[in-house]
Amino acid sequence: MKVFISGNIAPIGLKQLGEHNIEITQWKEKRQITANELIEACQNQDGLISVGPNKLNADFLNACKHLKVIALHSVGFDQVDVIEAKKLNIAIGNTPGVLSGATADTAFLLMLAVSRKAFYLHKKIVKGQWKNYEPTPELGIELKGKTLGIFGMGNIGLEMAKKCIGAYQMDVIYHNRSQNRDAEKAIGAIYVSFEELIAQSDVLSVHTALTNETKGKFNMKVFKQMKPESIFVNTARGGIHNEADLIEALESGLIWGAGLDVTNPEPMHADNPLLNMENVAVLPHIGSATKETKSAMAEVIVKNIVAGLNDQKLPHQVD
Ligand code: DGY
Repeated sequence: MKVFISGNIAPIGLKQLGEHNIEITQWKEKRQITANELIEACQNQDGLISVGPNKLNADFLNACKHLKVIALHSVGFDQVDVIEAKKLNIAIGNTPGVLSGATADTAFLLMLAVSRKAFYLHKKIVKGQWKNYEPTPELGIELKGKTLGIFGMGNIGLEMAKKCIGAYQMDVIYHNRSQNRDAEKAIGAIYVSFEELIAQSDVLSVHTALTNETKGKFNMKVFKQMKPESIFVNTARGGIHNEADLIEALESGLIWGAGLDVTNPEPMHADNPLLNMENVAVLPHIGSATKETKSAMAEVIVKNIVAGLNDQKLPHQVD
């Protein structure tokens, strides 16, 4: 069986694919493979391990309908036309669970960095602007006892909530498509309507998939209903917030700050005004980027690929 890998995966994944006698071809260039190159590379393959943002849309899937399985190097699957894949009988796998801790760490890091203006103050030192000890420099805000609002209470949202409760005894409210009774039992999170979530949260952290329902969900209308001292955190997908509206909301003081690990587009341009704001921290989509998590993701990917090549249901199949 032959598998094409469209980018880097952790070494354990390559080792395990070898143990299954799978012949690997891998994209080794530093730049992202283009759509046409990906189609060409997949022509003689049985499976694809898709690393990165390539759109696996109807055009791609129909040009590669001989593929038995596509294992995504991500939990998110917004880059795939899942309905078309199902029609063509191509199994799609993702990597839920194993990246929850690392992604929640990233959300927590951004929340804390924004609350203390850490990225902005670091940049001031780099620019040689740390001249004197300032007793009242650009002041931050504290998180202890504040209300955390989780938009999307799945594995990652729950991990973020646990960290915030442990570190700052935050009260947790959440909004989800359906109530998550397990989270309520585990941490006492309270289900609220979307309107209550945005009005009551001191920190609002997004942990939902990008879908037609969530696209552009955080826009001016929503920012206007948030607290002026609130922090917006997005480690899910950049398309869930409207960037122009976010910039305006920050500039006009509708909300206090924002921490983003995801942007729209990605990569973010270096001249983006968000990068010069005091109360903003931006990271280049590194939510799951730890050695441990990437290795765990690679192992899930191998399990998905092997199952798909053998016409079995994938352990983590996107249906
Ligand atoms: C994920 O797993 O979805 C991460 O955001 C990487 O794309």
